[in-house]
Amino acid sequence: MSERRPRVMSGMRPTGNLHVGHLVGVLTQWAAYCESADAFFEIADLHAYTTGFSDPQAIRDAREEMVAVWLAAGVDPERSTIYLQSGVPEIAELQTLLSMIVPVSWLERVPTYKGQIEALGNEVATYGFLGYPLLQLCDIAAMRGERVPVGRDQVAHLEFGREVVRRFNYLYGDGRDVLTEPQPTLSEFPEVLGIDGRKMSKSYDNAIYIADDEETTTKKVRAMITDPLKIRRGDPGRPQICALFALWKFANPFRVDAVAAACRSGELGCVQDKGDLAEALNAYLRPVRDRLAAYRADRGAVTRVIEEGTARARAVASDVLRDVKRAMRLV
Ligand code: TRP
Repeated sequence: MSERRPRVMSGMRPTGNLHVGHLVGVLTQWAAYCESADAFFEIADLHAYTTGFSDPQAIRDAREEMVAVWLAAGVDPERSTIYLQSGVPEIAELQTLLSMIVPVSWLERVPTYKGQIEALGNEVATYGFLGYPLLQLCDIAAMRGERVPVGRDQVAHLEFGREVVRRFNYLYGDGRDVLTEPQPTLSEFPEVLGIDGRKMSKSYDNAIYIADDEETTTKKVRAMITDPLKIRRGDPGRPQICALFALWKFANPFRVDAVAAACRSGELGCVQDKGDLAEALNAYLRPVRDRLAAYRADRGAVTRVIEEGTARARAVASDVLRDVKRAMRLV
């Protein structure tokens, strides 16, 4: 008998522009879960409305493009379920039911709430945005997710979600766990740095995009910040503080040690290093970019993947919703 695979659930808000940080930090991990787990990956379009409600077309347009990148990165739709959040209305119904037992103070305490209002302004301070972590918990609960691969910034959401699950089971479980407490799994990859040396992020305008062409990639690499004390070839460099060097670790892990040594000794100059890295990075990205071009040319295939996955996800969610309603004496 084969062991039961853990149920893994994760999601991403639809954005059209996924970058190398997404690829290395998230998508390669998702692709691996297709082999080792019973994996569910969600297009979190309702979550996108919590801050992007004034531009619904952008959310709609990003849907297939984002999934095309997932598929190009190796997420296997035959071995996982890729689905659309808004296509599973059971999730929203679950949110209404669970909202009854969630103290507003728990939601206000989640650090992303105040942080995002500070960053984006008071227009995002909606009822829906306050409920963001609850909707996320409903995503996970609706798929009976046990493990949730997320970034560090999402750990507080998971902790909140676990408290809601405990409260639900306590109030309605009759000594049984109707819902399971999900566990976050942190990616082991270090943060990928952007061309300015800060965390790679669309909002910092410092990202190398998966969809960039090779020439653009090379240009961006040439503009990268390296060790400010290494001015000319011959000066010893400090790879440990260099954003360029950080990219070598995934562009070509076999060359990391040799590049570090040559940089430290001064034998390798930054101009040469940039040229080498641009080449290695483009070679690393080439198969992903080729597959992305193929999926872009066949949107119908992407749409089918989403439709089939959404039907499977709905079946799971309606089961969960039935359990929840039964526990709440609604059936
Ligand atoms: N909030 C997550 C993020 O911004 C995206 C997300 C939505 C998610 N639903 C989820 C992640 C469920 C994990 C599980 O990254």
